[in-house]
Amino acid sequence: MSTPFDRQFWEDRYASAHAVWSGEPNPNLVAEVAGLEPGDALDAGAGEGADAVWLAGKGWRVKAVDFSATALERAATRGSDVDWERADLTEWSPEPASYDLVSAQYLHLPGLAEVLPRLGAGVRPGGILLVVGHERSDAHPFPELCYPAKEMAGWLDDGWEILISEPRPGRESTRRDEVLKARRRA
Ligand SMILES: C[S@@+](CC[C@H](N)C(=O)[O-])C[C@H]1O[C@@H](n2cnc3c(N)ncnc32)[C@H](O)[C@@H]1O
Repeated sequence: MSTPFDRQFWEDRYASAHAVWSGEPNPNLVAEVAGLEPGDALDAGAGEGADAVWLAGKGWRVKAVDFSATALERAATRGSDVDWERADLTEWSPEPASYDLVSAQYLHLPGLAEVLPRLGAGVRPGGILLVVGHERSDAHPFPELCYPAKEMAGWLDDGWEILISEPRPGRESTRRDEVLKARRRA
């Protein structure tokens, strides 16, 4: 039996459809990455790979991690030059200070408060941590896993400059995204 948003939940979700997501990159990723110089990027919880493929198309060298084999197989068929890796982000850690961008889009999971600073340790000085999630709402199946951006900002230490921590319009018309954008101090 699966618990909220665990690996079996996601495998079942991906197995239930040919494509779960639109195939388009997330609007807040596009908006916030637009002004950045391409470098090394990590997409944490990459799903079917739309964001990773979009980043690669913009000149980023991308590593994309997800724990769903079905999602990653689907992502890899998109034929882009992305380094796909199957791993559980509650256990996996990036190489320290090795990415110019670490992006987590809709990575709703228990224990994110512990996972996020660990992913952030993968960001180089001057690099960006971008986290986008659903705004908390009773319409969400697991509202307790929807973290306000200001709460997520509080999980980071003072080695970070918080650039954005607020709800913004997102990919769904009915609910906003919580957007956290932070720069690692040099
Ligand atoms: C809501 S989907 C978002 C996918 C993609 N980022 C997007 O925006 O289209 C969340 C993704 O996170 C992945 N995920 C959730 N918990 C994870 C974990 N502990 N380790 C690795 N991936 C995880 C799921 O498999 C799923 O693909």
